[in-house]
Amino acid sequence: MKMKKNIKDKMGNRRILITGGAGFIGSHVVRLFLNKYPDYKIYNLDALTYAGNLENLKDVENAPNYNFLKADINNAQEIENLFEKYRFDSVIHLAAESHVDRSITDPLAFMKTNVIGTMNLLNAAKKIWDGNWEDKLFYHISTDEVYGTLGKTGLFTEETSYDPNSPYSASKASSDHFVRAYGETYGLPYIISNCSNNYGPNQFPEKLIPLFINNIVEKKALPVYGDGKYTRDWLYVIDHAIAIDLAFHKGEIKETYNIGGFNEWQNIDLIQLLCEIMDKKLGRSQGESAKLITFVKDRPGHDKRYAIDATKINKSLGWKPSVTFEEGLELTVDWYLDNEEWLKNVTSGAYKDYYKTQYSD
Ligand code: NAD
Ligand code: TYD
Repeated sequence: MKMKKNIKDKMGNRRILITGGAGFIGSHVVRLFLNKYPDYKIYNLDALTYAGNLENLKDVENAPNYNFLKADINNAQEIENLFEKYRFDSVIHLAAESHVDRSITDPLAFMKTNVIGTMNLLNAAKKIWDGNWEDKLFYHISTDEVYGTLGKTGLFTEETSYDPNSPYSASKASSDHFVRAYGETYGLPYIISNCSNNYGPNQFPEKLIPLFINNIVEKKALPVYGDGKYTRDWLYVIDHAIAIDLAFHKGEIKETYNIGGFNEWQNIDLIQLLCEIMDKKLGRSQGESAKLITFVKDRPGHDKRYAIDATKINKSLGWKPSVTFEEGLELTVDWYLDNEEWLKNVTSGAYKDYYKTQYSD
C-alpha cells in the first residue's frame, strides 16, 4: 500500500535542504518557500558554479528563515557533515550541470555532479536519517529529456520508458534511477518530478530564450541549430516552482510527476514570436530582429521533439500553469530589459570564452 504524504500537516517546522538554490529554477523555489513558509528553515546549498548567482536571491537574502551554505555536492564528506550539523528533514535537489551543449563538450562533469553528486546526497540522507523515514523526503528534480525524443505525435507520460540521448539526459536518467533504487532498496522516501523546458527571469543566457534576448539587444546573430524545426514544450519557471511546492507537500511517496504546460513550440516559431516582442519593446521596426536569424550547424544527437502529458499532476494535485506562453514570454523579456546589470555581470569573463568555443564556425 502507498504511504500517504502530507508533510505540512504532519510537521509545522521543516528544515529543508534546497540544492542548487542560486541557479535559475532553484532561486525561484527558494524564494517561494521562504515567503510562503516563514516557519520553515530553508538551507540553500550551492557551489556557485558559473550558473549559480547569489544576486538571484538579493531580495530575500535577509529573511530570518534563510541560510546559505556554499558547498559542493561532489564532496561526500562535506555533504555528510552538513546533514549531521543541520539535521535536514527533507531535500529538494536541483543542483546539477544543466546545459546540453556543455554536456557534449564535457560529459564527465555531468556524470560527476549529476550522478555522483546525487549519490552523495542520497548516502548522507540514508546515513543520517538511519531508517527513521517518518516525515522525511528526498525530492529529486528531473527533466523530461530522460525520455529521449518523440516523433510527430504522442506525449511523455510517467510510464514512458527512459531513452536518453545526450550526456546531460543520460546523467539525469541515471540519477533518477539511483533515487528510485534507494527507495526500493533502503526504503528512502522519495518523489521525482520530470519537467519540460523552463523559461523566465534569472535563466543563464546559454539557454535558447535568454541567449536570444541578449543577442537581439546586442544586435548579434541568432544561431538557430539545424533547420529550426525542433519542438520543445515551454513552462514559465514560477509555474514549475508552484508545482514543486505542491508535489513536495501533497505528492505521494515513490511517485513520479510529469510537469509541463501543454505548450509546444517549434524553435523557429518561438524565435519569430520573440523577435516580434523584442522589436516592440525596443522600439525597432517590425522584422528588424528577425533579420538576425542565422541557421548554424546542428547540435549532435539533437532530440527532435519533447512534449509532456501533465494529466497526472493536474488530476491528482490540481496543478496547472498560471500564465499563458505569450504572457510569460513578455514578463521574461521585461525582466531581462529591466535587469541589464544582471545580464552584463553574468555575460562578462568566462561567458565570453564559452561563447567563442560554442559558436565559432
Ligand atoms: P542552473 O544551471 O541554472 O543551476 C544549477 C545550480 O546548481 C547552480 O546554482 C549551480 O551553482 C549549482 N551547482 C552546480 N553544480 C553544483 C555542485 N557540484 N554542487 C553544488 N551546487 C552545484 O540549472 P536550472 O536550469 O535551474 O536547473 C535546476 C534543476 O532542474 C536541474 O537539476 C535540471 O536538471 C532540472 N531541470 C531544468 C529544466 C530547465 O529547463 N532549466 C527543466 C527540467 C528540469
Ligand atoms: P536549450 O535552451 O539549450 O534547451 P534543451 O536543449 O535542454 O531543450 O535549447 C532549446 C532548443 O533550442 C533546442 O532544440 C536547441 C535549440 N537551440 C538553438 O537552436 N540555438 C541555440 O543557440 C541554443 C542554445 C539552443
